[in-house]
Amino acid sequence: MPHPSHVKIGPSILAADFARLGEEVEAAARGGADYIHVDVMDGDFVPPITFGSQMIEAIKPYAGGLPLVIHMMVTEPARQVEDIAKAGGDIIVIHAEACADLAGTVAAIRKAGVQAGIAVKPETPIDPILPFLDDIATALLMTVNPGYGGQPYIPEVEIKIAEMRKLIDERGVDVDIEVDGGINENTIEQVVQAGARLLVAGTAVYGRPEPVPERIALLRELADGALAD
Ligand code: DX5
Ligand code: ZN
Repeated sequence: MPHPSHVKIGPSILAADFARLGEEVEAAARGGADYIHVDVMDGDFVPPITFGSQMIEAIKPYAGGLPLVIHMMVTEPARQVEDIAKAGGDIIVIHAEACADLAGTVAAIRKAGVQAGIAVKPETPIDPILPFLDDIATALLMTVNPGYGGQPYIPEVEIKIAEMRKLIDERGVDVDIEVDGGINENTIEQVVQAGARLLVAGTAVYGRPEPVPERIALLRELADGALAD
């Protein structure tokens, strides 16, 4: 059931207990998440290696029908697009910095029958995303350098969020601004005020003394409050 709120919370399972991944996905899906954020890392675009299409296929049944947003921290992700779409990825988000042919990669994602998103690192301007605003569902503005959970939020990205918000509103396109990295109870209001609407949170949701649903509810309450301001 959709939430009445206008922000979407996407717990990142990178911070979940990998030995109990199904249960952890289920806890977020039943606990009020809007989607599940899945970080695919290849040991090349970023140093760590996480998981790929087989893991996505394994967790899909635990998501209770919530969309899986696949954040591809992968060099030349076009090679994986078809497998990930088949495995149950619903939105495939690729890094502008990782693709020699960004247009071709976006086209490959859409051809695979799923929605596309484009991500940029904190120091990359939003410009590479702009030609694709009619083709993508989400513009992911990283608020940390990709690769690891639990890093501090980079507030300078708010300038890019506001810039993107203005362009999306002017053009009247249906693109969600997603933020990822360092989003927690201390930073969530700022990103919403700047214009973000898809809020990824890893260590702010998982691995805490409080249950996952309680953490999601807290983040949503703060985000909704910031929207009402
Ligand atoms: C980092 C990943 C994030 C990560 C965020 O490169 O893309 O999705 O899980 O973790 P937190 O919310 O702990 O910063
Ligand atoms: Zn991510």
